[in-house]
Order: sequence, then structure tokens, then C-alpha cells
Amino acid sequence: MNISHAIDELTIDASTPHTAEVLPDQRLAAHINAAVRLLRIGQVVSFPTETVYGLGGDARSSVALKRIFQLKGRPADHPLIVHLADAAQLYEWARDIPALAWTLAEHFWPGPLTLILKKAAGVLPLVTGGQDTIGLRVPAHPLALELLRAFDSGLAAPSANRFGCVSPTCPAHVRDEFADKLPLVLDGGCCQVGVESTILSLVSDKPVLLRPGGISLIELANVLGCRPGTQDTTEVGIRAPGLLASHYATRTPLQVINGSGFWLRLKQLCTRGVRVACMIFEQPSHEMAHTHRKQIITMPNEPQAYARGLYRVMRDLDCGNYDLLLVEAPPQSEEWSAINNRLQRAAANETITGEIEYDSKQFKHSAP
Ligand code: TXA
Ligand code: MG
Repeated sequence: MNISHAIDELTIDASTPHTAEVLPDQRLAAHINAAVRLLRIGQVVSFPTETVYGLGGDARSSVALKRIFQLKGRPADHPLIVHLADAAQLYEWARDIPALAWTLAEHFWPGPLTLILKKAAGVLPLVTGGQDTIGLRVPAHPLALELLRAFDSGLAAPSANRFGCVSPTCPAHVRDEFADKLPLVLDGGCCQVGVESTILSLVSDKPVLLRPGGISLIELANVLGCRPGTQDTTEVGIRAPGLLASHYATRTPLQVINGSGFWLRLKQLCTRGVRVACMIFEQPSHEMAHTHRKQIITMPNEPQAYARGLYRVMRDLDCGNYDLLLVEAPPQSEEWSAINNRLQRAAANETITGEIEYDSKQFKHSAP
């Protein structure tokens, strides 16, 4: 192998966000007004939240809801989160609201926490996937709040990606997903949290964590006074796509490997001509960096910064014509739980045996 071509590109910055163009008030108002006009006629628009971009439609309109499902390619029995401008609107969407919901709302809203509550009468079954419960949250992005206040009702919004794919964290990702199928993408820059909201169910006696996310377990436990329970959703029949084994997936197969086996695995793959892109924590040693043909992204050591860059890096690498994305496993501690959860699901189609043996026949490309 020619050493001078050994590295395609050593690093890209995993944490630099694209900031939105700062619009003068008048233009911002014009964008919001245009979005509201579209929403009122049952159209779907993409808007930024602090977690990921949403594909928003009027949660009271079955036309809009059907359009969301159609655009996303999502099965109609999977529920949507309804976004609100203010916790006071909970009464319009939920019933039998426990005191704990108000406490959590006070602490974490606006912010990346979704509460699952019993749904109010009149909520369309398309929103809830036919279940008796509803997911609700007040997002923290200023543009989302502005839009929600102007719209003055709930916006049902899944992440603005096709079903099962990686969520978008900047407007360009949304356009990549839907091209000209969306009449409007509000540009709020890159999302500051970068992974989806934490989902907490309050419909039984004890709070149950359904999805780790932007609010950490530690933060939740501080307010709850105890750790929330966890639930095997396949057992109780909750239809939650973000909870399926395979989700948030890149087209390129992705594997998560513990630090100790990482370099050995990489060496073997590269020797066999597998084109690998890596997400690692530290710069490789000089010797490793110059031995193999690959792309290496150095990810931040701190979980919030890692989360902010995660989906963007996954998307960038997915466009790079690699055979495999190899990710160095983050620590197993609680503050990394949302990231580990997303990586695990992105890797769910890949069998990791823990052995170093790798069947290179499954890759379509051979060594250059
Ligand atoms: O951060 C987020 O939550 C983003 C932004 C746009 O707000 N939204 C998001 O939506 O991630 P989506 O649809 O991609 O994922 C929402 C998850 C799904 O797994 C859905 O099944 C679950 O929330 N969910 C919604 N309503 C539910 C309910 N009533 N019971 C159980 N799970 C529910
Ligand atoms: Mg999603």
C-alpha cells in the first residue's frame, strides 16, 4: 500500500455547529407566518428543535397527520409526539395529569423531555397510534417556540427523517431526506442537543423511561427522587419506532467495538481491503495512522458534545462510500446512555461476535 495515500482525511471536526443566518425580525416573522399558513391548510413543514429537526403538522388535522406518515414512510400505528408552546396546554391534550407531570414540566420545559400521559378525549387516533396515551413536550428551540405560539395549537412532529434512518440535526439533512417534497424547512441552525428527547411515561404508578435522550437519567432522578423504571416495550405492546432494535441506521453497516479490540479489528479489515471509516476518541498512534487506508473522525470525550455531532458525523460518513463504519464504544456510564442507545440501534443489523474474524465476502468493494 502506498503510504502517502494511506489516510483519506484524518479528522473532521465533530462538534462545529452550523449556525443559522440571523434573520432580521421582519424576515423571521415572514418565515413563521408562511409556516403557519401552510400548517393551517394541512401541509407539513420542517422546523428546528433543540434535539433534532421535526416534520411538523397540525395535530388536529388528519390530512396533515396522514401526510407526515406518508412522507416518513412510517407505519400508521406508531404514535407521534405533540409539541406545545407551553405546559398550560397540557389540559387540551391529556387527562388525569399527575402532579409529577407539572413538577417535571416546571424543571425541564422548554427542553428535551417528552412525557407520556393519558390522552384527552378528542385526540385523533392517528396521533397516538390508536393507544390511550399521548407523548407531549415543549421544545426549547426559540424558532420552534415562536412557531408554536403563532400556530396556537399542538404540532405533531416526528424527527424529519425517513422511517428507521438517522435523525436530521441541520436543515441540509432535512433537504437531503425530502428534497422538494417539503414546502418549507425553517432554518434554525444545527441542533444543540443532537439526540432526541428523553421519553418518560407517567401512566402507571411509577415513572418509566421509554427512551434515553437529551435529559440524562441523573437529572431526571434528581427531580423524581428515584431512578425511573425501565420497561421491555415489546412485552407490553407499546408501538414506539425509536424503540425498535434497528433504528437510527446508516445505509453503511455500523459496528461498535470496545477500545481494546478496536485497532486489531481495524487492522484486519484494512488488510482485507475493506474500506473503513472510524469514529474514535483519541488520535491514533502515529504507527496505526500510517498503516491503513481509512478515514478517522476524532469524537469529543464529553457526552454533550459527542451527542451534538453524532448524527452529522454518521450522515457524513454514510455518504463516503465506505464498506463499514467502525465506532469505538463510548463509556458505559449513565451520562452516555442516550449515545450508547443510538449507536446500539444503528448497529442492530450487524452481528458483532466479539471475534476478530470478519467475513469480507459480505462487502461489495474490494481493495483499490
Ligand atoms: O426529540 C424528539 O423527541 C424529536 C423532536 C422532533 O421533538 N421527535 C422525535 O419523534 O424523536 P419520533 O417520532 O422520531 O420519535 C418519538 C418517539 C417514537 O419512538 C414514538 O413511538 C414515541 O416517541 N411515542 C410517541 N407517543 C408515544 C406514546 N403515546 N407511547 C409510547 N411512545 C410514544
Ligand atoms: Mg425518529
